[in-house]
Amino acid sequence: MTEPAGAAQDLEAWIEERVGAFRGRYGRPPRVLGCAPGRVNLIGEHTDYTEGLVLPCAIDRHTLVLAAPAAGDRIRVFAEDLEAGVEIEAGAPRRSGDWSDYVKAVVDSLAALGHRVPALDMTIASRLPMRSGLSSSAALGLAVARAFDRAAGLGLDSRTLAELVHRGECEFVGIGCGILDQFASALGRRGHALRIDCRTRAVLERPFAGEGLALLILHSGVERRLADGLYGQRVAECQAAIAAARQHGIAKPGDRTLRDLTPQLLPALERDLEPVLFRRARHVVTENARVDDFCAAMERGDSDALGQILAAGQRSLRDDYAVSTPELDAQCEMAEDVPAILGSRLTGAGFGGCTLHLVRAGREAEADELMSAACVRRFGSRPRRWIVTPCDGAFSRALP
Ligand code: GLA
Repeated sequence: MTEPAGAAQDLEAWIEERVGAFRGRYGRPPRVLGCAPGRVNLIGEHTDYTEGLVLPCAIDRHTLVLAAPAAGDRIRVFAEDLEAGVEIEAGAPRRSGDWSDYVKAVVDSLAALGHRVPALDMTIASRLPMRSGLSSSAALGLAVARAFDRAAGLGLDSRTLAELVHRGECEFVGIGCGILDQFASALGRRGHALRIDCRTRAVLERPFAGEGLALLILHSGVERRLADGLYGQRVAECQAAIAAARQHGIAKPGDRTLRDLTPQLLPALERDLEPVLFRRARHVVTENARVDDFCAAMERGDSDALGQILAAGQRSLRDDYAVSTPELDAQCEMAEDVPAILGSRLTGAGFGGCTLHLVRAGREAEADELMSAACVRRFGSRPRRWIVTPCDGAFSRALP
């Protein structure tokens, strides 16, 4: 089933229900909540770790953390969806290689930055599928960070929390990811996409192409894992590509990342770099340009151009960056036969996860039905799917 488009409206009802579950588990009410959305990246994929441009929006599917002060120095966490619990030492969390590392990473970062980490009893609930490219881990980190911030009265702002959670993912969990996910989940704005310059960290809010568009997300049925090594391999290839470009005198000595290269340099790169590194570089260089092309097309209300930019992004991810899968490719190809869909591409890191489809507003049900039927014919089952709306970023609240 597709979740209802107005899922944001029942956020409060869901919170209330989860508050009841917290009481049942710990025998007392929660005192604070932290809540953070997932994100979908419209364009600008695999550009953040080379200090490039990205264009995500936060989406109305959330992870919720409820917490109450506890005695002692431990944090007790129960993940409702997984029916699994863990106890974390506030002073010295240890990695365990599972979901709880994202909670421990926040504890570790808070402590490392000299903040007080109070003992808490906590529950986590989520409406974001894990390992789907919709940033369930960043949403978990931000919801936890928001809850701690509120419980300890730290008063940290959204950007500081995003940086803190990003630091935790890189240093504690050990994934050398860029800032895309954490910034999108922390700084999202209703009805807007965020143009983030990952070098300067400047964030511009851009109205999401008005009333005319809707977003459909389809799960490919294949889960992805960032830690599996392919993501790290792409990061390393980008570093090797810029080093080779400098060595051949194509990049200037001070050019730090592929962000510094312009499309005009592509012929020289093709001549001098080995083919794989050239293709990786071409993806990054053209993808950065697509972010600004997409922003300009949103501003003009040029839906056809938006669709074409997504399609070009998908080809680049498939052919040059090699992060697509047969299932993701198939979903994007099927969408070409659906008139209500303007353009499609994989979203997130790839290697599985979801495709994003830009749909003419008012025709979501038609797009959804045709895509589901095509998936049944091709894969034998209806995909998990969501119609999402750009929403506000992570927040916290004291509970009465
Ligand atoms: C994952 C990472 C992000 C980003 C994307 C690809 O979601 O966490 O930092 O690199 O992949 O755009």
